[in-house]
Amino acid sequence: MMKDYLKTRRAWVEQALAHTVETLTSESEILTKSMSYSLLAGGKRLRPILVLAAGEACSHEPIATLKGQLMPVACSLEMIHTYSLIHDDLPAMDNDDLRRGQPTNHKVFGEAVSILAGDALLTEAFKVMTQTPTGTITPAILMAVIQDIADAAGANGMAGGQQIDLEAEGKSLQLCDLEHLHHCKTGRLIEVSVTSGAKLAGASPQQVEALTQYGRSIGLAFQIVDDILDIEGATEDLGKPSGSDQAHDKSTYPALLGIEDSKKKAQLVIDQALKSLDGFAESATPLRELAQYIIQRQS
Ligand code: IPE
Ligand code: IPE
Ligand code: MG
Ligand code: MG
Ligand code: MG
Repeated sequence: MMKDYLKTRRAWVEQALAHTVETLTSESEILTKSMSYSLLAGGKRLRPILVLAAGEACSHEPIATLKGQLMPVACSLEMIHTYSLIHDDLPAMDNDDLRRGQPTNHKVFGEAVSILAGDALLTEAFKVMTQTPTGTITPAILMAVIQDIADAAGANGMAGGQQIDLEAEGKSLQLCDLEHLHHCKTGRLIEVSVTSGAKLAGASPQQVEALTQYGRSIGLAFQIVDDILDIEGATEDLGKPSGSDQAHDKSTYPALLGIEDSKKKAQLVIDQALKSLDGFAESATPLRELAQYIIQRQS
């Protein structure tokens, strides 16, 4: 069931992203190419799918209607995520050569272009969010969602977390500091994908509260599993170089706790995520299965 769910949602997201790329004109053909190279290189599309699944959990609208309402924000989150990957791979950061099964953006276009492609994807993402149809979704709700996303991606969120990640290279952090690092660099964007979908779908404050907990838990689990796959996964499956964390002496869960305890921790956090969904009936089935997918994935 989950396979089919992911397949159809991914196809919708791919189609919407392809359309978004067509509207991404630029003063420079090379900049346009660099942006679309990374944005259309595949990837799991987890963040946009979470926007859709959280919306489905909270709305009575048919999915066809909901999809149109949620897709601009869903695409914008994938644009912000893709920018973060382009910059994460730069020589000044993780210095990786492979991403989504292709040479990294800077390997193809050079560092200067890939810095600008990241900047442009981030900025254009905010333009795409404003294309959300308002009506059922009020301007006030959309404004709140845009604020949440800015906060999750910015200095107190992903960008801040990336800085902490760099400062933590070669160090052994306390467990609570490592959790904070993972929450900021990866968890926040995943959490806000969930809460954005919920808020745009008209979720009640109680639903938003429960889904914030869910998003926070799967976000942490996602990065713990990413750390584990960096050791246990194969480069061909991951589409990015395995062993990169050890090579850069990164602060990771396996480095601090070992593989087995990291797996236990990931399972514990996924169990918490599932518990947060107790108040939801059938409509949250996709969110429950996505939580399982996050821990079972091989790439
Ligand atoms: C990789 O994210 C970077 C992290 C935040 C761990 P994903 O594993 O979601 O990468 P794609 O989008 O599938 O390529
Ligand atoms: C990156 O974490 C998180 C981002 C915000 C991009 P990693 O550096 O572990 O991500 P990968 O393993 O390169 O995808
Ligand atoms: Mg990194
Ligand atoms: Mg990296
Ligand atoms: Mg990693």
